[in-house]
Amino acid sequence: MLSLMMCSLLQRSVAAPCPVSNCAMPAAPASAGPYGTYPSLPPPPPRTLSTVPLHPSVPEDAQRSGFVLSASGRLLLPGSIQVTLVLNGSGYVTQCTLNVTFYEVHPDSGELVRALTDTHVVDAAEWVLFDARAPRPCAAGLVGAAVDEAGGWLYYPVVATLTGPTQYNQYGREVARSSQSVLLVRQISLDGSGGSRTVFQQDTSNSNSSVFGNGRLSSSIALSGPVDASAGANASAAFLLLSPYETVSGLVLAVDLSGSGVVRARPVGLGVQATAWAVDQSTSSGTSTYDMYLLYQEGIQYDSNACRELADMFAFQQTPLSLGSYSCSSWWVARDRGAASAAAVATWPISTWTTWTSSAAPPTTKAAAPPGVDVEIVPFTLTTTTWPGPAQLAAGSSLVYLSDVYRCQILELDPTTAAAKVAAGYDGGGAGASGGGGCTRPVCSVFPSDGPATGNRAIASPGRMAADGSGALVFVDETTGRLRRLGPA
Ligand SMILES: *[C@@H]1O[C@H](CO)[C@@H](O)[C@H](O)[C@H]1NC(C)=O
Ligand SMILES: *[C@@H]1O[C@H](CO)[C@@H](O)[C@H](O)[C@H]1NC(C)=O
Ligand SMILES: *[C@@H]1O[C@H](CO)[C@@H](O)[C@H](O)[C@H]1NC(C)=O
Ligand SMILES: *[C@@H]1O[C@H](CO)[C@@H](O)[C@H](O)[C@H]1NC(C)=O
Repeated sequence: MLSLMMCSLLQRSVAAPCPVSNCAMPAAPASAGPYGTYPSLPPPPPRTLSTVPLHPSVPEDAQRSGFVLSASGRLLLPGSIQVTLVLNGSGYVTQCTLNVTFYEVHPDSGELVRALTDTHVVDAAEWVLFDARAPRPCAAGLVGAAVDEAGGWLYYPVVATLTGPTQYNQYGREVARSSQSVLLVRQISLDGSGGSRTVFQQDTSNSNSSVFGNGRLSSSIALSGPVDASAGANASAAFLLLSPYETVSGLVLAVDLSGSGVVRARPVGLGVQATAWAVDQSTSSGTSTYDMYLLYQEGIQYDSNACRELADMFAFQQTPLSLGSYSCSSWWVARDRGAASAAAVATWPISTWTTWTSSAAPPTTKAAAPPGVDVEIVPFTLTTTTWPGPAQLAAGSSLVYLSDVYRCQILELDPTTAAAKVAAGYDGGGAGASGGGGCTRPVCSVFPSDGPATGNRAIASPGRMAADGSGALVFVDETTGRLRRLGPA
């Protein structure tokens, strides 16, 4: 509803100054050859944008907003988790059974290809405390998954939380509430043969022994590299990378997929907390690890010039926007080459668990990176508001996609040259002519249409995004809940 309102407001917005540092893309230079200077080639045809259909064969509980995209473009949607309680003779919870399903959907026809199902039992460690009459005595949540195509597995973390009844004292204050959270990382065979197993399990209720806080995870989940079992002893260790939900600066947690139960801390990027990160599954350096891109938000700031656009736009509204309610931020991207040295990967548990924070250099410089981490700062900055949500990123085919949810655009960034352009969304009406990222007034549409991805074709606010190895991008249209696909360049 908020998005709908925003879009109708945005469609009445006015032309505004451009607060983006890389707005004007330099014209492609004419190339010099032995017989003189050749004119530059005409621009390639624009990429196409289409709606991923969902055929009636796909069950209704398939959640578009949680979609998973593999490197080869396989599309999977999680279903809702079925939870079954096992009670003892007096009605107390002793076990909680989770049924998890991922629906594989054909990316073109939208038909159901297969359903991958997994059943797992979580034992109630303190089952005496879990009364089945409590509201939601067992709940479980999925936040994402990662696909290992070479090995044929889908890996997903799931957190099961058992909650007992709340006890109150005589003054009505809550005094006790038993709960237990278990983090599981499961693997399911991708071919639907039904094989599945637990590769990691940890009780996250006890913050003394768990690095996963209280078991809440963010939705950034990726493999550290290809899981190539055929390489035998020479295979580099593969990890499932997870962000702890709580504010932990400058690192991700890496769960060893060999099932050894080891979690390592992998310092990443620039030693400060990133807003989002994405792994490019098409990159694989000599050490068999993917490159990671991290999105950073400039520290809390209120830049009145950058917000002028918003102010101008709302000057037409009956109730002018209170600019103090929304902040404008600059976002920038760093590329973390997968080949972190062994010294950069700490072993967990470690006695001195500290987050890596640079004191020697401002975090926008390479010198701020943790020792042994190879980081390159992409010389590109996007300035936009944090409303209706922060920018997000996806990576594939050595390209980075950055969403500007305020302008309803997806920008494509070449991290080696920092050239940026609008890849999807209204770009000023001239099919790519406007060049640089985010340089047009915000125009959003609640009526998505298919065809060339730029020019006059407005999109709604993009939500979750993921790119495959060819650089094709799938994203959720936050307004209509549709899945949309931007073809490869
Ligand atoms: C969960 O899966 C098991 C095994 O496939 C099945 O027997 C059971 O009925 C399922 N439960 C629910 C609630 O779907
Ligand atoms: C079930 O658990 C409750 C709580 O611990 C216990 O009081 C009760 O005796 C148990 N019932 C049976 C049949 O084991
Ligand atoms: C965590 O560790 C502290 C200090 O060692 C201890 O006092 C506390 O009881 C522990 N908490 C749990 C839940 O084990
Ligand atoms: C592992 O690497 C060593 C040294 O490079 C090589 O001699 C050996 O053949 C490799 N083994 C496999 C199974 O690839």
